[in-house]
Amino acid sequence: MLDLTGKVAFVAGAGSLGEGWGNGRATAVLMARQGAKVFGVDINEQALIDTAAIMEREGHKNWAWQRCDLTSNDDVKAAIDACVEQFGRVDILVNVVGGSVPGDPVSLGVDAWDAQMDLNLKTAFLGCKHVLPIMLRQFEAEGKGGAIVNVSSIAHMSHQVGGRVHVAYAASKAGLMAFSRSTAIAYVKKGIRVNTVVVGMMDTPTVKTRITKQLGVSADELNANRNAAIPMGFMGDAWDIANAIVFLASDEAKYITATQLVVDGGVTAAR
Ligand SMILES: NC(=O)c1ccc[n+]([C@@H]2O[C@H](COP(=O)([O-])OP(=O)(O)OC[C@H]3O[C@@H](n4cnc5c(N)ncnc54)[C@H](O)[C@@H]3O)[C@@H](O)[C@H]2O)c1
Repeated sequence: MLDLTGKVAFVAGAGSLGEGWGNGRATAVLMARQGAKVFGVDINEQALIDTAAIMEREGHKNWAWQRCDLTSNDDVKAAIDACVEQFGRVDILVNVVGGSVPGDPVSLGVDAWDAQMDLNLKTAFLGCKHVLPIMLRQFEAEGKGGAIVNVSSIAHMSHQVGGRVHVAYAASKAGLMAFSRSTAIAYVKKGIRVNTVVVGMMDTPTVKTRITKQLGVSADELNANRNAAIPMGFMGDAWDIANAIVFLASDEAKYITATQLVVDGGVTAAR
């Protein structure tokens, strides 16, 4: 089940904002555990070095990484070229890069709006721009294209816990889902599947660092608020997201494209 042996995965955002398991780091490590050759990129070199240490500790030899700003077309092209040079192909593209800044249309600066669109939407566009031709060539040569998984957020539907307003995050993550669906249909006859994992409130390092600062609350208070807002009663973790991504990237999901897998402990259904 979910065997990724022989597949090459390009994981964008394979570090973590802070110590521990971010969604991208868990995804990169889980893909390696499932047998994939993994090429991880992130803007944070130290975070990649930390991921590399885990790969080393677990004995995953088929792992390579490169620092890359996913909002830069040149960086993305160079990293994907490096992946192909190293491993010969790309079967899986995962884009986990993203993050939120608070603000409504009046309080949010124009530069901050543009930066949110770049971080949450352009990153996926650039990954697809450079990976799709490779997957297309693979499909034409051997009948196997590839699988792309993007990472959105339940925040595209409403405010998160605490009534935090983040219009650019909500809009960019909603756009990401439309982008994924539309790209999926554009390539539906070419052996390439494109899906989105819609993330709920997860207990990742970013929650403890960035969001506590943005809201001006303690980590305990934030955790309590988030847990209380979830029908299951507790936050998920990075492995819940990694498992969903690995499933959508695997051959077991071969008939699934242009859809969303919501991983949120029941939050959206209960609203
Ligand atoms: N944690 C949650 O509760 C939650 C909720 C909803 C959605 N998400 C989504 O899950 C994804 C990952 O979240 P996380 O909690 O693991 O956060 P995270 O901040 O740990 O992960 C994001 C990673 O992307 C990297 N990154 C940021 N900008 C980059 C750039 N320009 N180029 C390359 N890499 C860059 C960061 O260094 C980091 O390693 C994001 O897309 C986020 O929006 C998370």
